[in-house]
Amino acid sequence: MVPLKANSRVIIYSSTLVLLVFLQQVYTFCPSICTCEGDPNVRTWCIGAGLDVVPIQLNPDVRYINLTANRITNVHFTLTFYYKLEVLDLAGNRIEALGSRNFDTQQALRTLNLSDNAIVSIPKDAFRGLQRLQTLKLCGNRIDTIHPAAFHDLRNLIELDLEGNALTSLEPSTLRHLYSLEVLSFQNNQLLEVPYERNLEHLGQRLQLLDLSVNLLEYIANDSFVALRELRTLRLGGNILTELDYGAFHGLSGLKALDIVDNNLTCCHPDPIRALWMLMMMMMMLSAKGGPGNLHPEPGQHYPVCASVPAAQENRNNTFAAKVIASHRLAGASKG
Ligand SMILES: *[C@@H]1O[C@H](CO)[C@@H](O)[C@H](O)[C@H]1NC(C)=O
Ligand SMILES: *[C@@H]1O[C@H](CO)[C@@H](O)[C@H](O)[C@H]1NC(C)=O
Ligand SMILES: *[C@@H]1O[C@H](CO)[C@@H](O)[C@H](O)[C@H]1NC(C)=O
Ligand SMILES: *[C@@H]1O[C@H](CO)[C@@H](O)[C@H](O)[C@H]1NC(C)=O
Ligand SMILES: *[C@@H]1O[C@H](CO)[C@@H](O)[C@H](O)[C@H]1NC(C)=O
Repeated sequence: MVPLKANSRVIIYSSTLVLLVFLQQVYTFCPSICTCEGDPNVRTWCIGAGLDVVPIQLNPDVRYINLTANRITNVHFTLTFYYKLEVLDLAGNRIEALGSRNFDTQQALRTLNLSDNAIVSIPKDAFRGLQRLQTLKLCGNRIDTIHPAAFHDLRNLIELDLEGNALTSLEPSTLRHLYSLEVLSFQNNQLLEVPYERNLEHLGQRLQLLDLSVNLLEYIANDSFVALRELRTLRLGGNILTELDYGAFHGLSGLKALDIVDNNLTCCHPDPIRALWMLMMMMMMLSAKGGPGNLHPEPGQHYPVCASVPAAQENRNNTFAAKVIASHRLAGASKG
């Protein structure tokens, strides 16, 4: 009996030793397809390495992981140990679903890039725990729904980029907790209305750039941006706007640039007051671009207002008929 006991103890000791050595190796392991940098800024790059999953054996102190251009399909349970992570780049993978609470331990994460994946929706707890996040990139996915509580924890988010998705609308209160947001892009979605009520209206403190270009906006109602007093740049180009209400841009006292190129607006409205209004809008846009000195109407000619929206929209009627300028006195326009 005694020798047997001794034997099993040896077995236990040796297997513990093997396990310890194994764990130590695992924890300092840098997969051969990756590049790792050591202390004090532990950083790992595994770019275009054909990875299917987020490697789980990296240094647990890692601060930066760049996994762009791999074949990763999800982030389920793979980030748990990287609680010091500050930057995670997963752009250009094949992630379809974000799941629930997979970033729960990333309390230090500042930058998360999930662009160019195949994400279709943002569920309720997808970004749970990301209290320090400052930049969230979700461009080039297929997102058509965002749970209204999905951004709840992102109170330090400065930039949210949803360019190139399939959003037609936002649920009320989706943007409500984004108290720090300065830059917001919905460029190239299918928004049918400005998501103002119970969404943009909460962003008055900080929002400086709002990009709604290349959507399906047809009409801008009165007070569509009225609380956004810090807004500097508003992009509405490449929509199908046929009408702007009289008070559409009311409240935008800090606006420096308004881009409204590539829409269906014309100055030739049958209602003369509305035509005058359109003219004033155009004056405002031109002065945002460098002053009314740029205005050189030549009867019969059209000219673009701004030029920051891609040329893909070229076939749209993106100009104002200069004739109208000739038929209204500019002085009259500024009085109305
Ligand atoms: C990750 O690597 C790609 C490819 O080199 C680079 O374009 C990208 O900027 C990197 N991401 C970050 C957050 O540094
Ligand atoms: C992902 O976004 C971050 C933050 O904007 C940026 O630094 C990085 O270059 C982006 N990655 C790629 C592959 O473009
Ligand atoms: C928009 O506001 C103007 C006054 O600024 C008002 O005359 C007009 O009727 C309003 N439009 C709508 C649709 O309520
Ligand atoms: C906008 O203009 C284009 C071309 O000028 C036209 O085909 C389209 O029907 C118009 N859309 C609306 C909503 O008026
Ligand atoms: C653009 O609108 C103007 C004014 O309504 C019109 O005269 C012109 O034919 C339109 N151009 C195109 C290409 O639809």
